[in-house]
Amino acid sequence: MAEPEREAVVARMRHLAEAIRYHNHLYYDLDQPEITDAEYDQLVQELERLERLYPEWKLPDSPLTSVGGQAQEGFVPVRFAQPVLSLMNLHDRDELEEFVRRMESEANGAAAFCAELKIDGLSVILFYEQGRFVRAATRGDGLVGEDVTANVATISELPLRLREPVTMEVRGEVYLARSRFRALNAEREAAGLPRLANPRNAAAGSLRQLDPEITRERRLSLFVYEIRSASEPVRFQHQALQRLSALGFPVEPHWQRCQGVDSLWAYVTRWQNQREELDFETDGLVFKLDDLDLARRLGNTQKAPRWAMAFKFPPEEALTQIRRIVLSVGRTGTLTPTAELEPVRLAGTQVSRASLHNADIIAALDVREGDFVYVRKAGEIIPEVVRVEFSLRPEGTRPFVFPERCPVCGGEVRRVPGEAAYRCLNGMACPAQIRESLIHFGSRAAMDIEGLGEKTVDLLLAQGMVHDVSDLYQLKAEALAALPRFGPVLAQKLVANIAASKERPLSRLIFALGIRFVGEKVAQVLARHFQHMDRLAAASREELTAVPEIGDKIAESVRQFFEEPRNRAVLEKLKGYGLRMDEPAEAVPAAAPLAGQVLVVTGTLSHFSRREAEEAIVRAGGEVSSSVSRRTTAVVAGEKPGSKLERARELGVPVWSEAEFLRRLRGTTGA
Ligand code: IVH
Repeated sequence: MAEPEREAVVARMRHLAEAIRYHNHLYYDLDQPEITDAEYDQLVQELERLERLYPEWKLPDSPLTSVGGQAQEGFVPVRFAQPVLSLMNLHDRDELEEFVRRMESEANGAAAFCAELKIDGLSVILFYEQGRFVRAATRGDGLVGEDVTANVATISELPLRLREPVTMEVRGEVYLARSRFRALNAEREAAGLPRLANPRNAAAGSLRQLDPEITRERRLSLFVYEIRSASEPVRFQHQALQRLSALGFPVEPHWQRCQGVDSLWAYVTRWQNQREELDFETDGLVFKLDDLDLARRLGNTQKAPRWAMAFKFPPEEALTQIRRIVLSVGRTGTLTPTAELEPVRLAGTQVSRASLHNADIIAALDVREGDFVYVRKAGEIIPEVVRVEFSLRPEGTRPFVFPERCPVCGGEVRRVPGEAAYRCLNGMACPAQIRESLIHFGSRAAMDIEGLGEKTVDLLLAQGMVHDVSDLYQLKAEALAALPRFGPVLAQKLVANIAASKERPLSRLIFALGIRFVGEKVAQVLARHFQHMDRLAAASREELTAVPEIGDKIAESVRQFFEEPRNRAVLEKLKGYGLRMDEPAEAVPAAAPLAGQVLVVTGTLSHFSRREAEEAIVRAGGEVSSSVSRRTTAVVAGEKPGSKLERARELGVPVWSEAEFLRRLRGTTGA
């Protein structure tokens, strides 16, 4: 076939593929379809027809193939038309002066620069066609990146449609906001999961998830800073930033036009001091020649442009001495080591404690009491110990050993096989664990009892007024009013707030119980599935693992919790005080997420056997059918789907990947 014809067919395939991807996203991720199902089916059918007629030109990243489950195998490569460059670094004022001089001589006079913050995240390239977001890729090796469209599409700041119908390629940085990073770690801690190391790694890990649902939960953010190509190019970098903003992109607002070394250096000192105030991490600044025509003429070296440079901030570390290493006991009994330090200034604040995380990290760093260490902020409020300055180690220090007995209750301490954590085994007989579990029980995401903060909990424990969470419900206002710093008003309020918490839905109560590995999300899944505390408490391991998303580890932990007589007794008491033990209908919008659906399963799924998938469909209110017909509402296609997939396409029946199926089961299509 003649070349022009090939080009026309491929162009049409590409157009259809992009339209399908766009509408998939609107439909599946945002629940805001712009076209009818019939119109969507027409697009799919046309692309299918072309793929059947011209299999040799089928697009490697065809959305029809990836819907069938192949996207699970990894990320599709994206080849860039122009390389995605990185930057050369400047380290001090002298190097900055030299760069400015060079640019001034190229400009034959004064040279203006656009100074920007360097966001410490992950570079992404975004493609828009006629104003529509069609694709996102990681930087990869600069020539070929990975298609991360589905993941990037979960970022709420990302404009899906620009304010003008322009075709353009832009570059930006995906990052995890510090506030979000802290919240995520708090959630993970509550669920007994290991903490994420720092925002950058967390962002990188989130972007490379094969299941976009996981990416969505992380809630990544985005800043855009470069127009790589556009139908109407702009002359100056500062205009590019303004234009990107005007089109609806998130642009970091602290950029500044500068001229001359002094003005650039003032920008450096300003941000060296103020960067801790930002809600994202910045590891430096970027200085770009503002005149993009001149920049183009200067061109690039192999890897980096000649017209732009990064100024890297020195890592913020401080040297100080460890006075002692203390252990705190968490809600689930984990012993967490913290270094108490000689106070030292770090990134604008006075620091006197640093995290040592766990036994493995202490051993790897060989940190001892009395050591001089470097501490650093890692996106957390409490900094961490980075390394020991061995040249300053005092005589007579000894390696740190975890105690055999709990520092709070004297109970037995054991290291959990396969984990870095040492744990006090005394459970609810350990006052530290009771304290933490009371604080957790009343916290906002759990039973949301205002007024039940740390101080109040400490007071109630010290007075012997509570021994476990159920005792909260028999507290009397008169008794509380007699406590130090508690008047009749506060006492009345607390009693009223505690009483109001009896009506919280089952999902919150499950979360509030503080079962290991059961965070908010898992609690919701369990509540939605079992509907009543009694059913959950009686569930066998098999019944638990049959719930999508519940693996062996969670199932085992839930079982252990409900087998423990002390926990059963607390639950009975809670019931006796009239706490709600079920999930009100309105809290479970998708009680039967697959109601009305007639599904056919084909191919191999990774989370379920065929039978498990079919059982899950029935449990979710759907109907299973063994062959595809006009009555079929969707086909769930795993690896190596058979002829049923063909048949579905012929009939225009929607095809769900396994990830999509999981989302639907959870009833979270639009969330
Ligand atoms: S400009 C040719 N501007 O820093 C343009 N990069 O060390 C090169 N980065 O790989 C990039 N913020 O991922 C530019 N405002 C900003 C940036 C920025 C963060 C990242 C980018 C790049 C790395 C270079």
